Amino acid sequence: MRSKLAAGNWKMNGTRAALDELGAMAEAAGGAAEVLICPPATLVAEAATKADGVMIGGQDCHAEAKGAHTGDIAADMLKDAGASHVILGHSERREDHGESDEDVRAKCRAAWDAGLVAVLCCGESLAQREAQNTLDIIGGQLAGSIPDGATGHNLVVAYEPIWAIGTGKVPTTDQIGDVHDFIRARLERRFGEGVGRSVRILYGGSVKPSNAAEIFAVSNVDGALVGGASLKATDFVPIIDALNASAE
Ligand code: PGA
Repeated sequence: MRSKLAAGNWKMNGTRAALDELGAMAEAAGGAAEVLICPPATLVAEAATKADGVMIGGQDCHAEAKGAHTGDIAADMLKDAGASHVILGHSERREDHGESDEDVRAKCRAAWDAGLVAVLCCGESLAQREAQNTLDIIGGQLAGSIPDGATGHNLVVAYEPIWAIGTGKVPTTDQIGDVHDFIRARLERRFGEGVGRSVRILYGGSVKPSNAAEIFAVSNVDGALVGGASLKATDFVPIIDALNASAE
């Protein structure tokens, strides 16, 4: 069985004072669900020493192992700082930095080479959903962004409809279920049933304490990638608790 994963994406939020939130999150982390926090890169090393029982991840890495890339961070540097995971291909990076599926695939290989688990994001825009292209878009992103060699140990997929991120708008549970079932089928088709079934698929986009339990009851939802509601323990702990309860 796949274990559940509650992942927090702090994005460009938080200075060292924010690490005080990790204590309460760590206390909630002893249950069935694994807990991952991806703080800004400046906080990864300190978070990794403070967060007992909470895994720490980066939010991006460069495709190359080292070199003349001012401002970028290599996967191995994240690993060295104590990270176990890295978010890749988030829609904000695809948009702000023009990242293509090919770029994301190269970053994913770099993450695996460094021994990091890739949390690979996919998701459609509102225009794409309204044009009924959602599954085509997701299928293309999965095919283009995931390298050969995926396993349940090195890959987590996050479905994040762009129109639901930070907007308070959430797809219906049927809409979430349709996409998660589709992602599961694509993973099984490409990597074989055993591997395809072992990769965890997270939902992301306006997850909060009030809607978490309903989302976690959807088939093939193995947890959440949470932005705004992962910044404060008062919001994130109830989400972790809801995920623990869904595993019972
Ligand atoms: P949100 O962000 O929970 O603030 O909508 C989710 C994400 O972008 O990972």
